[in-house]
Amino acid sequence: FIPPSAGGGGGGLTAKDALGDDVKTAVWAKAHPFPERSLVQGLKGDAHYLIVKQDGSLENFALNAVCTHLGCVVPWNRAQNKYMCPCHGSQYDPTGKVIRGPAPLSLALAHVDDVEGNVVLSPWTETDFRTNTAPWWKS
Ligand code: FES
Repeated sequence: FIPPSAGGGGGGLTAKDALGDDVKTAVWAKAHPFPERSLVQGLKGDAHYLIVKQDGSLENFALNAVCTHLGCVVPWNRAQNKYMCPCHGSQYDPTGKVIRGPAPLSLALAHVDDVEGNVVLSPWTETDFRTNTAPWWKS
């Protein structure tokens, strides 16, 4: 069995919940419905946001929750519809694009795929669709 590669040459990793268990797509989507956004452990051990859409399906990208300023984990503020860093006030829009400094860069992206019912994250090596630039997190 070869898991479908989400472009960018594989490197996929099953997302883990707070207990270290594999994250099941259907279970997760039910437990964290729109407009909630909750964290899983993803690539490089970093916390990543999975985004459940209004129709109950998972967004095909996840956001690395590590602030690009000095590395605090950035909470999702549902009322304000943005990510707001408690450390120095940086803000990111719902796609993780930086809209207020001091953070210099947008939150890193990862691909999200369902592989046999599990949520699999893999490196995002393509153009950052929010800025149309090469992904800063690649190197
Ligand atoms: Fe997020 Fe400084 S670490 S604003």
